[in-house]
Amino acid sequence: MQHLLSMNELTKQEIEHLMETARRIESGKRMLEVPCTFASNIFLEPSTRTKNSFYIAEKRLGMDVLDLNGADSSVTKGETLEDTLKTLQAIGVQLAVVRQPEVGVLQQAAKGLSLSIINAGDGTGEHPTQSLLDLYTISKEHPSFEGLRVTIAGDIKHSRVARSNACALKKLGAKVSFVAPVPWQDESISTDYITMDEACAQSDVVMLLRIQHERHVISGQQGDYLQEFGLTKEREQRMKDDAIILHPAPVNRGIEIESSLVECRKSRIFDQMANGVVMRMAIIQTLLKGEIANEYKNYQQQT
Ligand code: CP
Repeated sequence: MQHLLSMNELTKQEIEHLMETARRIESGKRMLEVPCTFASNIFLEPSTRTKNSFYIAEKRLGMDVLDLNGADSSVTKGETLEDTLKTLQAIGVQLAVVRQPEVGVLQQAAKGLSLSIINAGDGTGEHPTQSLLDLYTISKEHPSFEGLRVTIAGDIKHSRVARSNACALKKLGAKVSFVAPVPWQDESISTDYITMDEACAQSDVVMLLRIQHERHVISGQQGDYLQEFGLTKEREQRMKDDAIILHPAPVNRGIEIESSLVECRKSRIFDQMANGVVMRMAIIQTLLKGEIANEYKNYQQQT
């Protein structure tokens, strides 16, 4: 595995291996550090969680980190993403973490490159590292995904998180349902749409999504979204006792979820963020395995 671009490309075994690696890192089992290995975090769209948890994961692995954003890179002078990646490879970068708005552009750019690329969100396409940290969070409560009932609720059509998770959860054997207003349903993801009341009554996991206003041609709130499609206190009380609430965040409090529920007993929203660091360490270790082995050998010989 050289790149992580889409959950579609991972087998069930590879997903389980990544979760096991994250578990080992979290339990304090010795991880391989990667001294003298450079990562470049290229964020051409805003990010708080993904960008900073990658930075922490990379530093914990002993990597040197270069930060690139749209404003201070030569992308503003018209350089393509492909040429930017080739440039970073030429100067010695081994890992590029990329968030950018165009679906599928990374698959094209990755061809022929020897550095590893991680998709940190490509427009409405995919967000595989978010999906993996979500799966890891679920696995801590429900070790088997077989038959697990998961509902993904919100702006399905514009959500890269929904796309990645729908694919990954089905691969692991979960039964996945969706809740969305008709204009935000997407049949390429699923035709199984239910009401929020049905979702809360039957689900082991309720995953809420933010309305992606920035990706809508016509923006603006659709009526009383919270009452019709969101998680209210009444609905939370009708959830199974051991069910959990997930949200990739940022959360729009009072729109997709009542504010007081963001940190309620069933919520794992901030745990997801903490799990994001160990899962991203596991992903980097897995992608850079050969690199890690060589660098580690050199490092040991020098010390
Ligand atoms: N969940 C997520 O991708 O958050 P950021 O946009 O803050 O990275």
